[in-house]
Amino acid sequence: MKICHTKADVRATVRDWKLAGDEVGVVTTMGYLHEGHLGLVRLARQRADRVVATIFVNPTQFGPNEDLDTYPRDEERDLALLKAEGVDAVFLPSVEEMYGAAGDTYVEVPGLSGILQGALRPGHFRGVATVVAKLFNIVMPDFAVFGEKDYQQLTLIRQMVRDLDMPLEIVGHPTVREPDGLAMSSRNVRLTPEHRQEALVLSRSLDLAEDLARSAPAVADLKAAVRAELAKAPSADVKSVDFRDAETLEELDGPLDRPAVILLAVRFADVLLIDQRVVAPRP
Ligand code: PAF
Repeated sequence: MKICHTKADVRATVRDWKLAGDEVGVVTTMGYLHEGHLGLVRLARQRADRVVATIFVNPTQFGPNEDLDTYPRDEERDLALLKAEGVDAVFLPSVEEMYGAAGDTYVEVPGLSGILQGALRPGHFRGVATVVAKLFNIVMPDFAVFGEKDYQQLTLIRQMVRDLDMPLEIVGHPTVREPDGLAMSSRNVRLTPEHRQEALVLSRSLDLAEDLARSAPAVADLKAAVRAELAKAPSADVKSVDFRDAETLEELDGPLDRPAVILLAVRFADVLLIDQRVVAPRP
C-alpha cells in the first residue's frame, strides 16, 4: 500500500493507474477508522481496480467551539486497517499541504448548507464541500463512496457534483451499525458507558418511525412519536428531529405521501450523535 503525503505524489500514482486502464475509487475520511469506514472501503474494493483512501482531519469544517483539537486520531492503526482491506494508496496530507497557500476560494451549496445540521454548525458544509472538491480534483477518481449515515453530506455532495459537472460517480453506502443498533461513528468512543447505553434510543426511535410510517400518518404525529421515544433517555439533549423529502431535503408536512428521511441530532454531554432512516408509506 502506497502512502502519499503530497498532492503531486497521489496525482502521479493515480495517473499511472488510469493510463493502465484501471478504474479508481476513493473513500474520503477524517481517520480514526471504524467498521463504518471499512464498509465504504469494501464497497469501493468490490467495484474498482484501484482504491485510494484519504485521511485528513479538515479544519475548515469545524467551528471555533467544536472538537477539532480533541478529534480522535490513530494514524498507525488506520494504516494497518486500510492495508488489511487491500487499499492501494492512502493520501495523508498535512494541513499545510492541503491549504498551505492560504486560499480564498470556497465551494458552497447554499440551499443545502444552511439547513438542518448546517443551521446548527455554520460554515460546516462549506468546509466539507470545499475539501471534498479539492480531494476530487487531487485524486481524480472515477467514483467516490460516501455513507448514508451523513445523509445531508451525501445529498450535498451529489448536488455539488451535478452542479459543477464533476466527472465522477457518487455511490451511497447504507449506515453501518453496531450489533445493538448504534450507528458507527468515531465519536462513539467518547460516550460514557451510561450514555453509550442511552444512545440506543436513536435507532430505537427510527425503528418505531419506520413501523408507524407504513400507514401514512400525519408527519406531525410521526415526529411527536419519535420525540416521545427519544425523551425516554434522560441524558439525551435532542437537538433536532427532522422529516424531509428523501431526495431534496425539503420540509414535509401533512400526511406522509412519499419517501421521507428522518434525521436525528442528539447530544450526550459534549458528544453530538446523528442518525437517519429513509421511511415510506406502504404502497
Ligand atoms: O465525512 C467525513 O468524514 C468528512 O466530512 C469528509 C467527507 C471526509 C470531508 O472532510
